[in-house]
This record gives sequence, structure tokens and C-alpha cells, in this order.
Amino acid sequence: MPTPSDTKAAELIRRRDRVVCPGVGRLSDLTAASADGATLTDADGREYIDFAGGIGVMNIGHNDPAVVAAINDQASRLVHTGIHVATYEPYVALCERLVELLPHHEPGTSDSTKAMLVNTGAEAVENSIKIARQATGRAAVICFTGAFHGRTLLAATLTSKVGYKAGCGPFMPEVYRLPFPVVRRGQDEAPVVARELARLRAALKNTVAPRDLAAIIVEPVQGEGGFHVLPGAYAKGLRDICDEHGITLIFDEVQTGFGRTGKWGAFEHLGVRPDLSPWAKSMGGGLPISAVVGKASVMDRVTPGTLGGTYGGNPVACAAALATIGRMEELGLNAKATRDGRTIRARFESIANRVPAITDVRGLGAMLAIEFSVGGDPDRPDGPGVAAIIATCRDKGLLVIPAGVDSNAIRVLAPLVIDDATLARGLDILEAAILQHAAPKPAAPAPAHATQGA
Ligand SMILES: Cc1ncc(COP(=O)(O)O)c(C=O)c1O
Repeated sequence: MPTPSDTKAAELIRRRDRVVCPGVGRLSDLTAASADGATLTDADGREYIDFAGGIGVMNIGHNDPAVVAAINDQASRLVHTGIHVATYEPYVALCERLVELLPHHEPGTSDSTKAMLVNTGAEAVENSIKIARQATGRAAVICFTGAFHGRTLLAATLTSKVGYKAGCGPFMPEVYRLPFPVVRRGQDEAPVVARELARLRAALKNTVAPRDLAAIIVEPVQGEGGFHVLPGAYAKGLRDICDEHGITLIFDEVQTGFGRTGKWGAFEHLGVRPDLSPWAKSMGGGLPISAVVGKASVMDRVTPGTLGGTYGGNPVACAAALATIGRMEELGLNAKATRDGRTIRARFESIANRVPAITDVRGLGAMLAIEFSVGGDPDRPDGPGVAAIIATCRDKGLLVIPAGVDSNAIRVLAPLVIDDATLARGLDILEAAILQHAAPKPAAPAPAHATQGA
């Protein structure tokens, strides 16, 4: 057995540390040389079950043959011209697919849905804010605690966790943050929703005037923030407040989109349509591409030239996205996500019933997390405990990543093409690691004759 210091993986990490800026965070010493479906192979040929999916990018699975073929085919014909310079088929075809799959306008109205393409989630977030500002002629934005919207300066302003932004300011002005309506396991949703909607209405009187408010941006299920699900009643309340005051409602679907929650978009669970929404991650099957989708009545109010960029909607990335969406339909991945979600949730609930340190099991579809707290007290988040569980999983051949402002949740973003046996094997490894680190230790037996003597 090679020691960690003489493996190819260790050498690659040493080379990385010599030349790569440490600001590019490193969650583990794992390396990746190739991947297939729901497994990764490292630089030394060791296989791992992938429960991270490239942080929610690989819903379609690694190296799907149809996606790879579409990439190769497009690359052999046209790699780049820039959409501002020449219009090409894959850009238009992808926008056509997006507006068909993700209608934002209300049916029966004269409105329609439009889209535009960029490269990353953060860029899509930035562009959605720029659209909202131009459409409303207002500047202010409300966002939420625990939010993650990316690392560019505007997106980092909207992001909550200081670990992603410390020292990077000054940030964008006119951004206001309210508590995300967190509903914990076993808690009644209605009072939380009533309290947080009242807080929002109060904020429109004591914090920012509605006439100055361009947008409210929220994740339908918080990603980095730890998979807290936005209650449908709160989403409806947001919709009502935005309609009342002409505020743009933006749902950030970057992590929730393209099958993860069992639907194309998590907004479909909420019974509420946003005005605008950024999409990225699993849309491109691994290639960098993102979109803003929105009501034409909002999108049409922007000045030509204010959106886009040199690489936005690159032809090869568009071809990958079109093939990814096609394969997701063919394989029925929305239904598969719902099934996988049931399997994962049942396992998490069963572990939680045995381990008091588990203080929440939450999520939507196959976007599920399990949260750990010291002594089962939710006010004492156990980030180090989660780090130990994740390290053991990695040693046993399972790649899994944390979530939450305190990194005290473990999240599952496994490729949706994972077969039942591999999913079960991954869950077995995770369960064993949890029981090893977090199960209550049996009470020490009382010493024999302890009561005798004195
Ligand atoms: C909800 C959400 N929005 C935006 C982003 C930023 O995406 P990117 O890292 O592609 O810029 C992420 C990334 O994790 C995300 O989860």
C-alpha cells in the first residue's frame, strides 16, 4: 500500500500548492484523473463513489456518451465566434429549449419568456440583477442569511457566509439582508412563515422603501447554506409583495435546477413563478454555461450591449447543454431524482433516529442534507464532527461534501444516473462513518463492587 506522500495524488497536490493561488479553496486532497457515471478515479487509479457531482454540476453523470459526442461534434465545426459578433444555431436553440422548459410568464397573458446565456452561476446572478435594475429603474436588492450566489463582487455581496468574501470588500451598496425562513425538523411551518413575512413587510417600512427596491433574490433551496427549503407559503408571500410594489422576484436556481429536486426547476414545487432566474451547474453537463431566464416584459426593458460577454453561450457549451437536456428527458431523470431522494431521505431518517447528534434531515427531491450538532443542540453546530465523517468516507471510497454556514451538514448531490446498488453502497459508507464518529458511546460499565468498601 503506497503511503500518502509517495502517491501520484500527493505529488499532484504538492505541485498545486507550489503554483496555484491558495485563494482557490481546497476541500480535500482528492485528485481526479477520470470519471464515469457516478464514480471518479483518482491519479493513482483508486475509485470513489461521487456524492458531490462536481458541486451539483453532474446530474447527467460523468462522461455521458451523448454529451461527449455532442461536444466533439460541435468542436469540430465551430468553437467560438462570440454571440455579439455572429449568431449561431446552438445559442438560439438552447434559448428556445430553456424558454419552453422553464416558462416564467403567466399563461393566458400576452407576455412570453426569454433567455440569455453567460458562463457561470455568478455571472447569471449578476446579469439578473442588472436586468432587474434596468427594468425597474431602481437600485436596492434584498437577499437572505445563508445565501450563496457566487464569488464575483456583486454576487459575493449577495452571498452570506463571510468565509467566501472576507477581505474582498467594499461590496455593492444598496443590498439588504433578511433572515431566511428556516423551518427545522418537526417544526410547524406556518408560524415561521408568518413571522418572516411580517419581518419583510416591516423592512419595507424601516429599512428600504419599496420604491427603491429593484429585486428580491432567494434560492428555492439554499445550496451552500445547507439545503434549507424555502416554504411554499413564504414564496407566495414574496410573490404578492413583489407584485404589490413592482419589485422583481428572482429565484436563484443555479444549484436546484435541471432535475436535482425532481423537476426542471425547484420553482415548480413552490407554485410560484419568478420574474427572473439564474441557471447554471447541471445545465451544461460539466461545461461552463449559465443562463438568465425571465419574463419578456422584464427582459425586453434592457439596453442592448449591457449584458453578455465574449464567451457567453459558447457554441460547444451550448451543444453540451442541449445534449444534456435531451438525455435528461430520455433517461427520465426528474422521476429518478424523486426516487433517489426517497431512498436517501429514508436512510437519513433511519440514521437520525439512532444518532441524537443529528439535528435535521432536510432538502427536496435528490437534494438532501443531514445536519450535526454537539450533544444534539442545534445551537452548537458540529463542523469538526462533519469534517471527521467526511474524511472517513473519503478513506472508504466515498466523496461527499459539507454545507451550511457552519459546515455542519453533509449534502448529497450524487449524479442522478447513479444505479441503486452504487447509491446503497455510498449510503452504507456514509452511515458507517456517521456511526463511527457521531453515535452515542455506550455508557462505561459501573466498576465491579463500586458500592462496596467505604
Ligand atoms: C445557488 C447558487 N448560485 C450561484 C452560484 C455561483 O455559481 P458559480 O460558482 O458557477 O459562479 C452557486 C454555486 O455554488 C450556487 O449554488
